[in-house]
Amino acid sequence: MKSENKHSSKAQLLALLREKKGDSSSGSVLAKELGVSRVAVWKTVQSLVEAGYSIETKESGYLLKPENEKDFLYPWEFADSVYPERESFFYHFLKTDSTMDRAHELALKGKEMAYVCADKQSAGRGRYGRTWVSRQGGLFFSILEKPKLTISDYTLFSLIMQIAVVKSISFICGKKAYLRWPNDIYINNKKIAGITTEISGEGDLISWLICGIGINVNNKAPSVKAVSCEEILGRQISRKEVLCKILEEIDNLKKNFKSNAVYSQGNSNLAKEWNSFSDCIGVKTAVFEPESKDDNFLEKQGKILARGIFKGIDPIGRCIIKTDDDNELYFNHGSVSLAFLN
Ligand code: BTN
Repeated sequence: MKSENKHSSKAQLLALLREKKGDSSSGSVLAKELGVSRVAVWKTVQSLVEAGYSIETKESGYLLKPENEKDFLYPWEFADSVYPERESFFYHFLKTDSTMDRAHELALKGKEMAYVCADKQSAGRGRYGRTWVSRQGGLFFSILEKPKLTISDYTLFSLIMQIAVVKSISFICGKKAYLRWPNDIYINNKKIAGITTEISGEGDLISWLICGIGINVNNKAPSVKAVSCEEILGRQISRKEVLCKILEEIDNLKKNFKSNAVYSQGNSNLAKEWNSFSDCIGVKTAVFEPESKDDNFLEKQGKILARGIFKGIDPIGRCIIKTDDDNELYFNHGSVSLAFLN
């Protein structure tokens, strides 16, 4: 009988081989369990081997040793029993210029939702057109969504992504990571992840929104001001686990904050949660125009617009700066950059 399982044949076969924890599974038993022919099983094994899996073919059957498992980000690695359709939203590239561009293409083709991952990017980009160095071992992905939000409320989506990533990195690294406005993630005072959001709209409404997330996981950090999870933990970790944790946190946050989201006024609970992950509240801050595309533009110090104390974010994600003469200034995402001076 054909299996009712909605996952791809690769996902189903891998699940069965992994259940065996290093023992072999005969082709005929696998064929029966999957409801396909032995030849179909053999073909799926071949395509997994081509994708890089170390599946041994023995007289007793097929064998996937846990110690030979690699950290793959293929769509079938994200088959999920709670969300059977999740796997079908995943796109994976061994190398691409930028996952943002691949996600844009999918948005233009009418996709409502997509997770685009790449092992390497040749033209990874950050905010303000800066370069995001994307070496093997890092986690680089973009999430495409078409939320029913007005353009001015897109920051709520961005706040959810930031909180999900900072919580996941804290959990994975076993120590608290922090958010720095607008959307950098620091641990041990060094940058471990960056997030950028690109949107397209029609009238006041968002047509699509793409959130790009880059995390130094097992790659060497690209500068002395950056750090990776491997450097924090002293061992390599699975990028797939990091990504799954982030997706779990995004789902939780969306559930928790949906009921009290009054979109036109932002979301004060979300802002409170964001502020609880900031290590810069109360810190002297300079506010700059983000005009330079240079990666070291903060050192070059463009035009300073204001100085004051960083007070966190307001419910729509604007940063609040209290100036020396006791004024409160509010700055939108994208309009300025901050340099924390302590
Ligand atoms: C920043 O710190 O300026 C944000 C960096 C965002 C990098 C990620 S990596 C995945 C996605 N693809 C890109 O080209 N950029 C984002």
